[in-house]
Order: sequence, then C-alpha cells, then structure tokens
Amino acid sequence: MKFFIDTANLDEIREAHDLGVLDGVTTNPSLMAKEGITGDANIKAHYKAICKIVEDKVSAEVIATDYEGMVREGKELAKLDDKIVVKIPMIRDGVKAIRYFHSEGIRTNCTLIFSSGQALLAAKAGASYVSPFIGRLDDIAIDGLDLIAQIVHIYQNFGYETEVLAASVRHTMHLIKCAELGADVVTCPLKVITGLLKHPLTDAGLAQFLADHAKAASK
Ligand code: G3P
Repeated sequence: MKFFIDTANLDEIREAHDLGVLDGVTTNPSLMAKEGITGDANIKAHYKAICKIVEDKVSAEVIATDYEGMVREGKELAKLDDKIVVKIPMIRDGVKAIRYFHSEGIRTNCTLIFSSGQALLAAKAGASYVSPFIGRLDDIAIDGLDLIAQIVHIYQNFGYETEVLAASVRHTMHLIKCAELGADVVTCPLKVITGLLKHPLTDAGLAQFLADHAKAASK
C-alpha cells in the first residue's frame, strides 16, 4: 500500500519524507490556499518545491472546469516536473480531459469521487488514480469505507489499472480499514501516518528493556 501525504505544507512533506515511508503528495486548491500560496507563478513554484522533496507522484489540481481550460492548465502543470500527476475533478469535461491526458501519457488523479459509478467512469477514461473522499461521506452519514470496498471490487472484476487512492482520510482507523479493503493508496495528514506508531505496550516494553539494561550495567 502506498502512503501519500495530503498537504501543501513543505515542513510536513519533509517530515513525512524523512520518515522513509512516503510515496507521494496530494494537494488541492484549499490546501494551497491554507499555506497562503496564491497567484499562478507562486503556485507553480510551490509545486516545483514539493517535487524537489519527494521521489514521485505529486498531484497538482487544475482550476478550470471546461475541457479546453483543463487541458491547457494540465499541460502546464505536467511540464513543471515529471513527478506531477494532474488532478482533475469528476465532471463531464473532466472525464474528457482524463481521456486526453491518458492518450498523451500524462498521469491523472480524478478527484471528488463520491460514488462507484463515478469511479467506473474515471477508470474507463484512463485515470491513473481515483480519489474517493471517505471522510466527507462519513460526515453526511454515508459509510465512506463501503465506497472503497465497492470500487476495489469493481476494478478487480475488470482488471482496471486505475489505482484506488482513498482521500479525505481523517484518522488512523480509516487508514487501517482502507488497507484491509485493498485500497492501493491512502492520502492523509501527517498525524494519521504517525498515529500508526503509537502503542502503549511498545512504550512500556521499551521503558522496561532500557531500565533492565541500566540496572544490569550498574552492577
Ligand atoms: O484529499 C482530499 C482531502 O484534502 C479532503 O479532505 O478532510 O477536507 O475532507 P477533507
């Protein structure tokens, strides 16, 4: 399973990368705005800075919502670095843009997926990744993990190469459940990844080992 970090914060990306388990980064316009990154040139420079930190797979989202605009913006983003994956929303023109990028060998991440039908469309268009937003479904009392299970099942039925990238992952149990269900990737905040480290018996066991070692050494 791949771990992506869902942020545009360079310090957090560095910290996740230093941990040695990071496979990629996802951003979106809200995450870029949260870091105060505005204006075309600054946004592009920020994507380049992210690409310098990680080995591959940096999702950069288009703002346009029409086919021509998405193709133009997506091409510009893809030109910034080979690591860029163009993020396209699940709308009618988005499906067409994904097909275009697929034919050009440019990777895409189809975002704002909330149903298995949308995920099927994205796979047929040739998306490299689909991003079902599980936390936002949970927010409205629809089980987001059920959607992951459905999409994994459908993709397995037909051998689609599109990877299931679970997004809007809010906590460590989301991540574990996505792993059990066979999602190819999770993207989440750093604290969800570091949450995997924690177990009180690990802390207690280590404290005991160190105490026993110190006791024996002082004899
Ligand atoms: O990857 C999608 C993510 O950024 C949305 O997360 O927590 O705003 O639903 P959230």
